[in-house]
Amino acid sequence: MKILIIDDEPGIRKALASILEDEDYTVFTAEDALLGMEILVSNPVNLIFLDVLLPKMGGIEALERIRERWPEAEVVMISGHANVDMAVRAVKLGAFDFLEKPLSLDRVLTLCRNVIMVQTLREENRDLKQAIMDRGEIIGDSPTLERVRELIIHAAASDARILITGENGTGKELVARAIHYGSSRAAKPFVEVNCAAIPDTLIESELFGHEKGAFTDAVSSRKGRFEAAHRGTLFLDEIGDMSLTAQAKVLRAIQEQKIERLGGEKTIETDVRIIAATNKDLEKECTAGRFRQDLFFRLNVIPIHIPALRDRQEDIPVLLFHFLSKMGKEKYEVDAQALEALKAYSWPGNVRELKNLAERITVMCSERHIGMAALGELLAADLRKGKAETEGAPRPAPAEGGRGSFPGEILRLKYNEAKEVFEKNYLEFQLSQNGGIISKTAEAVGIFPSNLHAKLRKYNIVRTER
Ligand SMILES: Nc1ncnc2c1ncn2[C@@H]1O[C@H](COP(=O)(O)OP(=O)(O)OP(=O)(O)O)[C@@H](O)[C@H]1O
Ligand SMILES: [Mg+2]
Repeated sequence: MKILIIDDEPGIRKALASILEDEDYTVFTAEDALLGMEILVSNPVNLIFLDVLLPKMGGIEALERIRERWPEAEVVMISGHANVDMAVRAVKLGAFDFLEKPLSLDRVLTLCRNVIMVQTLREENRDLKQAIMDRGEIIGDSPTLERVRELIIHAAASDARILITGENGTGKELVARAIHYGSSRAAKPFVEVNCAAIPDTLIESELFGHEKGAFTDAVSSRKGRFEAAHRGTLFLDEIGDMSLTAQAKVLRAIQEQKIERLGGEKTIETDVRIIAATNKDLEKECTAGRFRQDLFFRLNVIPIHIPALRDRQEDIPVLLFHFLSKMGKEKYEVDAQALEALKAYSWPGNVRELKNLAERITVMCSERHIGMAALGELLAADLRKGKAETEGAPRPAPAEGGRGSFPGEILRLKYNEAKEVFEKNYLEFQLSQNGGIISKTAEAVGIFPSNLHAKLRKYNIVRTER
């Protein structure tokens, strides 16, 4: 906690500062309000003790200015000539409290603690609001999804470990977040680790952190994700891709609720709720010796399986219209035949693919009415991947559309939007040319695999390895 004292009496500044420094607070002092505000410009503080009678600018005027410019800081007025009117006025102007000189040590310290409490609550409140905004709705009314919703409510009410399974793009992360934000840990961090994206050599330091000098590149010490998720939720995404060595460490961390940083001596207690997700069949992975059975049992306390989109066709139109209304300014109509075709399509990329389609519609379609012809072109990219053997699915458009000329719509977009559309289409094309293999694609286009990973995530690009 940082505190600023503004008082023209050197004795008060000194005495108050020494009391507060004894409590390990960082203290700044100023002899008038103007100097005080100069300090605030470069040092945001939590609390300001502000004298009422000051040279140059009076305390009340200073209070008004400070509240306006630094609303995060609490102001406590101090005065030797206190009267009730003045105190009431100060509080009306947003002062946190009013203290009379001579200052009582007890009251000063209690006040500091109260300010910390208020600020912590305010922060939590802000995080909660943010959380509600980020949370994302789970759309769809199929009975299977209804069952998933029931499980989410059940899971959110407990602290049990959860294993979410489902194909790519079915909404595993969405469900993990819904559980966290529905739980008593909602105001605490939701920390995500994509186990597949972190190289084997780095995963331990990522999860458990390291001390300075633990390995060659460890120039400073660093908190791991377990620590970062303290009192919150740790989401271990793509857990099926974690190496056996890392699995052993995770198992130990889960069992003992304690971790050690790499190269560290001390043991750190953590209170973390684990949600894991995978698109692999972990039981099979166990049998094949690629996944530890004991870890599987630990994680699989509440299993939640999210069915593939093709197995809950009734969600398809609902989701499509949801995405269209969120992304587009227009109200689109989709004709019945086209909707049937969409329902019959196999959706290898599940909801993410459907979301991408909706996005393509809003970018590429100049017409509000989506019929079979438009759909055929829009889905062509997906169909070309050879995944739509389903009967009734629209016929693929000729495959030459991908290169050479841009559709006119792109040329009319803002530069940044056009660049994104290009980047996304380009990467999708390159990926498909390279069998969906990241390393190969990255090499082919001349960027780092980690960079490619990040871009695929950014654009929600579905990767189907062949
Ligand atoms: N029922 C749903 N309602 C609304 N949006 C959904 C739903 N299911 C998934 N989505 C959206 O689809 C996209 C993919 O979902 P998410 O990232 O949760 O999938 P995933 O199962 O984690 O995929 P992956 O295995 O590829 O990581 C996200 O943008 C998500 O918001
Ligand atoms: Mg995911």
